[in-house]
Amino acid sequence: MKLITRILTCSLLASAGMAVLAFPGPQGPDAAFHNAPAAEKNLKNPYEGAPSPRAKSMYQFRCGKCHGDNGEGSGNIPALAHGPVQSATDGEIFWYVTKGDQANGMPSWAAIPKQQRWQIVAYVKTLGSSQATASSKAPESSKAPESPSPAITNAADLKLPAPTPPFTDFRYEQPGKIRKITVSDLPAPFATSSAGNAPKVIARPKDAWPQVLPGFKVELYATGLHNPRLIRTAPNGDAFVAEMQRGDILVFRGITSDGKPAQTSVFASGLTEPFGINFYPPGPNPTWIYVGDTNAVMRFPYQNGDLKARGPAEHIVDLPSGEGHSTRDIQFSSDGKKMFVSVGSASNINDPDTSPDEKNRADVLEFNPDGSQMRIYAYGIRNCVGLARRPKTDELWCSTNERDALGDNLVPDYITHIEDGGFYGWPWWYMGGHQDPRHQGKHPELEHKVITPDVVLNPHNASLEMTFYDGSQFPAEYRGDIFASEHGSWNRSVRVGYEVIRVPLHQTGHASGEYEDFMTGFVVDNGHVWGRPVGITVASDGSLLVTDDGSNSIWRISYVGK
Ligand code: HEC
Repeated sequence: MKLITRILTCSLLASAGMAVLAFPGPQGPDAAFHNAPAAEKNLKNPYEGAPSPRAKSMYQFRCGKCHGDNGEGSGNIPALAHGPVQSATDGEIFWYVTKGDQANGMPSWAAIPKQQRWQIVAYVKTLGSSQATASSKAPESSKAPESPSPAITNAADLKLPAPTPPFTDFRYEQPGKIRKITVSDLPAPFATSSAGNAPKVIARPKDAWPQVLPGFKVELYATGLHNPRLIRTAPNGDAFVAEMQRGDILVFRGITSDGKPAQTSVFASGLTEPFGINFYPPGPNPTWIYVGDTNAVMRFPYQNGDLKARGPAEHIVDLPSGEGHSTRDIQFSSDGKKMFVSVGSASNINDPDTSPDEKNRADVLEFNPDGSQMRIYAYGIRNCVGLARRPKTDELWCSTNERDALGDNLVPDYITHIEDGGFYGWPWWYMGGHQDPRHQGKHPELEHKVITPDVVLNPHNASLEMTFYDGSQFPAEYRGDIFASEHGSWNRSVRVGYEVIRVPLHQTGHASGEYEDFMTGFVVDNGHVWGRPVGITVASDGSLLVTDDGSNSIWRISYVGK
């Protein structure tokens, strides 16, 4: 354990002390897109609604490698096919694309001809309508298989520079491989340039399958889902899954002899962008299911065994939302008196002192379970996507996505237990007293308050949901360990992540900083992947269930012995 302080002097905390809140989202219906000047808003796009056939390839060449060929977004790169862009004017988008937002990883496109920029903007707008058609199709059908056997690393990959240890990349990920990164391993900011290397997701090649250590077995539990994200097991053993884009919560019950769910049901639909799911009160007989929808905490009445919500959603409290990170995870204290909600930042590294839309973001917030009495529990956590409570304790843990645009090996993502009042650095500092060069000279008083996280992961891994292994199927040495899903990088020249990792706690409840590759094999080459782990939970029989929004499926990992 490193530096731990509980000094609550930061102005963020002072302002958060004000108990009950209404968050007037910074993006009201008439708010300008990224504060675009009014004069730009109404500029007419000469290609509006009618980009030339070339616009598509211009878009894919210049923008697709980060935003995805269909504008689907990737990790923390915003989608363009839906979201704020689709309701902005062409003029506002043109203005934003021209100036870019270097500090946040979006290049300026001022150097390409104006006509091209307008064409690209017109094309981006058409992505909105093509997305609508694409998403009504079965998820697999939109991803044509590429070559017959791309499972083997291609020749171009071998020519890529080798990673600098202890950092790694997809070519070296292997089940059982133990890793440990410490802050003394970190390079200087901008030691390498900021990469734009989002993956193209292709259909699973015929001979590809997730890899695990001997003794473990991976089976396909469910397929044909639509963007499955967080998964959490109810006290009765049912597994609940958030389909974030569709606004659904699904429930999966049981495991048949051929490894499939015995029953599947839509528990609830009509949510905005659900992610976090939890059961209240804690214990064997919950009466509510809480959902971290992107802009609010909602809850549904529930009894063990329900496959459909027995009543409509009840709104508990608004959450800060709008731009930026959209997942919200939820945990309760073991006595049921407090609710914790993780809310990621609105941007890569905008300064909360001067950016109103960062208010109460990059935090873990605490509430009463009725939504009253908000306060900031821990802050400076850029995006705690996975919020977990260590079983039988009140210790909260975060699986966190750190910032981009400082180079290949900065800033590491992390898994850590969090402290009440703890400050984890964002955006002014990182990993203990390293100042972010984009905020030089700011908040010197916080330098010694920055807590160094327990487990430093490979930078840009995109660590999403985490869970503690409280089952009994895996060998004894796995009990109490952490498993986490690493969705995979975009801001790294050679990709990394795209795996499930294990953080051994050695039955001590504490992490030593080590972690281990546990399930790998989703990457085809430096350009293509076929799977992306998101959610992870311990199933009722002690196997692990892992959601994958690349192949739109759920994997089941069980222990079958040597
Ligand atoms: C190197 C990666 C990269 C490339 C290439 C790139 N972008 Fe971006 N873009 C980003 C990132 C990262 C952000 C989010 C910045 C932030 O956090 O504010 C972004 C944000 C945006 C936004 C704002 C989205 C929103 O919802 O607020 C638009 C519009 C956009 N990009 C359009 C484009 C277009 C058009 C191109 C091609 C001409 C392009 N981008 C190329 C990385 C990239």
